[in-house]
Amino acid sequence: MSDAHPNVYVSTGYRKWGMTTGTLAAMILSDAVQLKQNRYASLYSPNRFYANPSIATFLRENLNVSKHLLLGKLDLTNQSLDDLNTNEAIVFKHNGQRKGAFKDAENHIHIVDTTCTHLGCEVAWNDGDHTWDCPCHGSRFSYTGDVIEGPAETPLQTHDHSLFTNLDTKDDSSGW
Ligand code: FES
Repeated sequence: MSDAHPNVYVSTGYRKWGMTTGTLAAMILSDAVQLKQNRYASLYSPNRFYANPSIATFLRENLNVSKHLLLGKLDLTNQSLDDLNTNEAIVFKHNGQRKGAFKDAENHIHIVDTTCTHLGCEVAWNDGDHTWDCPCHGSRFSYTGDVIEGPAETPLQTHDHSLFTNLDTKDDSSGW
């Protein structure tokens, strides 16, 4: 395991392949204890140079999430409910809070808070499926705010449309 513990051997990180790689590790460790060469030992050496490609993917994906999180909060989209046509959605600000509104075929307006209930990114309207989709980890919500697909488990917060009637949704507050 280390120079300080020359007689301690560790094998780990099988990633669901323990039946095979655990057996091979046991053979390598057995040879190591007996000071025998093992032709596969270099594959398991912690000193081998191996940049795990999943680390690059992990970093890239998290950079992407951070970008969406930041851009969502800085999004200056601010339309008015007056601009809303049937089967259309808009994003507007109310008291500095980002809201999404969709007008269905019966002209009912459904208003949601666009902050994803998973980790707080801002959802965007998917005009093809009429859903609110989160760019960060892929959660999807119906226009009524219900969860269609996780990882989010909690619906989007919804608001009664009547709270917004006769209000100017062209909110100039800069709280986002
Ligand atoms: S923040 Fe929306 S799915 Fe993670």
